Amino acid sequence: MSSDFVLVSKKKKSRRKADDTTSLLRRISSICEEVSSSSYCDNLVDILQEISSKQELNSFQNILCYGLGSVEDFANSKYQFGLLVSLKEHFKTKVQIYDPNFRKDDLTLFEHYQFDIIEENEFGKRSIDSTTLVFLPHCPHELLNNFLWKNWDITSLKKCVIFGNSIGHFIENTPLKTKETFKYICRVQSLVEEVSLDNRFKFSDVFNDLAVHYISEENIDQLPCDFFDFDEEPNYDTLPVEYRKTLS
Ligand SMILES: C[S@@+](CC[C@H](N)C(=O)[O-])C[C@H]1O[C@@H](n2cnc3c(N)ncnc32)[C@H](O)[C@@H]1O
Repeated sequence: MSSDFVLVSKKKKSRRKADDTTSLLRRISSICEEVSSSSYCDNLVDILQEISSKQELNSFQNILCYGLGSVEDFANSKYQFGLLVSLKEHFKTKVQIYDPNFRKDDLTLFEHYQFDIIEENEFGKRSIDSTTLVFLPHCPHELLNNFLWKNWDITSLKKCVIFGNSIGHFIENTPLKTKETFKYICRVQSLVEEVSLDNRFKFSDVFNDLAVHYISEENIDQLPCDFFDFDEEPNYDTLPVEYRKTLS
């Protein structure tokens, strides 16, 4: 055998893997502490608490998260995960999570933090039946649009608070033709109140453009009576390839 090759026994490999997992868990635990003591997290919790009591939501029974990305691989995902853990602890709620790009160590981490891993790609089309914080950090817009379609009635929408990319910015910055594809995001804008957050976290690209959205009672009163009659399932066939790739 050439001296360039070093044979690594199976035992050594699995010990190294276990060491990697332990060091990821240790690193994540310190990130969770850092995020939970940040002013960004405090501010978000205050906003969510205020909305929850104003809307008589009786706190959150569930957090649904799509598009976190691999915590093992990406710095943004690590800090966003830290925020999820803080919110789970604060609201004493369960977390359901899915991203097609999760890796094995991500799943170990989620089990450690007692998250419920969604088993299959549902493309955001999950019906909710309890008060839910929908956590979509920098997600493809298809996921939000699909989620809204699946919950397109006032009873379901009133149970959701969405923490994700600013809907207002999306409407402002998206060409008319593209907006036609995201009908549910565009329609829901007349129903939601958007609360923006100061992006004062130490890394500016982790939580940038994320805002809290909730259904406002005053806006409901002004709705035309056929507002919810529309229920065509979204179809993204005409989208650029990169969108289709992220959703495959
Ligand atoms: C732009 S990345 C955001 C990653 C990270 N949250 C961040 O802020 O950097 C979009 C994420 O959405 C995920 N995604 C794509 N399709 C998805 C689906 N059907 N369900 C859940 N997540 C999905 C991608 O795998 C990717 O991790």
